[in-house]
Amino acid sequence: MSTIYIHWPYCLSKCYYCDFNSVVCNRNIDYLEYFELYKNVLNKFLEQFYNNEEITSIYFGGGTPSLIAPIFIDKLLNYIYNVFKVCSNVEITIEANPKTIAVNKAKQFKNYGINRISIGVQSIIDNDLKILGRIHNSYDAINCVYDMSSIFNNTSIDIIYNRPGQRLEDWIKELNEILLLPIQHISLYELIIEDNNYIKYLIDKGFIDAPNSSSSFFEETIKTAESNGFEMYEISNYVKSDTLLYSRHNLSYWNYDRYYGVGAGAHSRVSINNNIYSIEQVNNINDWLLWAQNPKFNCVLLSNDDVYKEQLIMGLRTKFGIDINNLNKNVIKKYKLFDKIEVLKQHSYVITSQKTSRRHSKSSQDIDINGYLILTYEGMLKLNMIVEYLT
Ligand SMILES: C[S@@+](CC[C@H](N)C(=O)[O-])C[C@H]1O[C@@H](n2cnc3c(N)ncnc32)[C@H](O)[C@@H]1O
Ligand code: SF4
Repeated sequence: MSTIYIHWPYCLSKCYYCDFNSVVCNRNIDYLEYFELYKNVLNKFLEQFYNNEEITSIYFGGGTPSLIAPIFIDKLLNYIYNVFKVCSNVEITIEANPKTIAVNKAKQFKNYGINRISIGVQSIIDNDLKILGRIHNSYDAINCVYDMSSIFNNTSIDIIYNRPGQRLEDWIKELNEILLLPIQHISLYELIIEDNNYIKYLIDKGFIDAPNSSSSFFEETIKTAESNGFEMYEISNYVKSDTLLYSRHNLSYWNYDRYYGVGAGAHSRVSINNNIYSIEQVNNINDWLLWAQNPKFNCVLLSNDDVYKEQLIMGLRTKFGIDINNLNKNVIKKYKLFDKIEVLKQHSYVITSQKTSRRHSKSSQDIDINGYLILTYEGMLKLNMIVEYLT
C-alpha cells in the first residue's frame, strides 16, 4: 500500500506565515510541458521502486494546486491510472485557496477524478486574514466552503489558531462558528512562526502582537471541536464523528506507509528488499524544472534507528498510536523502550492499549510485543520531548 503526492509550487501571493516550498507564479505555465516533467519523475519511481502495490491515495498539495489547469489533472490522473495499480476507492485530494477555485473548475476537477477538497480558510475574521497575509476575506472563504461542499462529499478546511494577539475566548467563539460549516474534516493548526517569515518581522517590529503562549489553546480547541461533533484523531486533525472521513492520505504518513512524492522539494519514502530509502527532490523550483527532464534520485538508506525515530514522530501524533509490533525489536531493546514507557505512564503522558509484555526467548533474544503506544492529550503537548526521550 502506497500513496502519491504531487507538489504544485506556485501561489498567487506569499502568505506572511508560510514556510512551504512555494513561490509567487510569475510565468505562463505550459501545462503540457509540466505534465511531461511530472510524468518523467513518476516513471523513474516505476522503474526503480514500484512493486505493483496498491495506490490508496493521490494528493495534489502545494503551493496552490487549485491554480492548476484541469487538463494537467486529467492527463496526470490518466497516466497514474494506466501505469500504477490504483485502488478502486482511492482518495484523490486537491488543496485549494478560496480565491483560486470557482464552481466550474471544481466540477471539472471532480469529473477528472478528484473526490476530496481541502480549502485553506485559515480564519473567518477579516482582520486576522489580513494579519496572516491572505488574499481572501471571510465572505470569500465561507462562500467557497458552501460552493465546494455542494460539489464534493468530502470537504476539509484548514484553520490557523493562536494568531498574533488572539485571545482564547475569541478563538473559541470563532471556532464554534467555523464548525457549523458544511464540512466533514478540519485541520486546526497552531500558528508556527519561523525565523524567516514576514510575520516574525511584523511581530519583532511591534506592528502586530505576538501569539499567546498558553497551552490551553490546544485543550480548549479539542473540547470545542468535540462538543460540536468533531473528533480529534491527530494533533491537528479532526473528523466529523458521524462521517469518519479521515484524511486517508495523512493517515498513511502517520502509519509510516511508503509514498512517492513528485515536485520541487517533495519527499518520498520508498523500499527495496525491506530497506527503506528517503528521497528529497531538488528544492529550488527552477532547478527542479531542469532536473525533472532527466531525473536521478539521490536515495538515502535509512538505518533501523532512523526508521524507529520516524515511526515514533509520525505514529505518536494520532489517537491510534503506534503498533509496537511494527518497531524493530533490536532498536526497542537498544533504547530501552519498555522501561521508558513505564516512566511516561507515571507522568500520564502515554497509555498502552493492550498490555506490553517483555519475554526474552533464550534462543533469539526476541521480545514478544503486543499493543499500541498512545499519547494522552498531556503527552501530545510534549510530543517532541517524548520522542527525544524515547530515542
Ligand atoms: C499548502 S497550504 C494549503 C493550501 C493553500 N496553499 C492555502 O494556503 O490556501 C497547507 C496549510 O498549512 C497551514 N500552514 C502553513 N504554514 C503554517 C504555519 N506557519 N503555521 C501553522 N499552519 C501553517 C495552513 O493552514 C495551510 O492551509
Ligand atoms: S497560499 Fe498556501 S502555500 Fe501559498 S503561501 Fe499561502 S499558505 Fe503558503
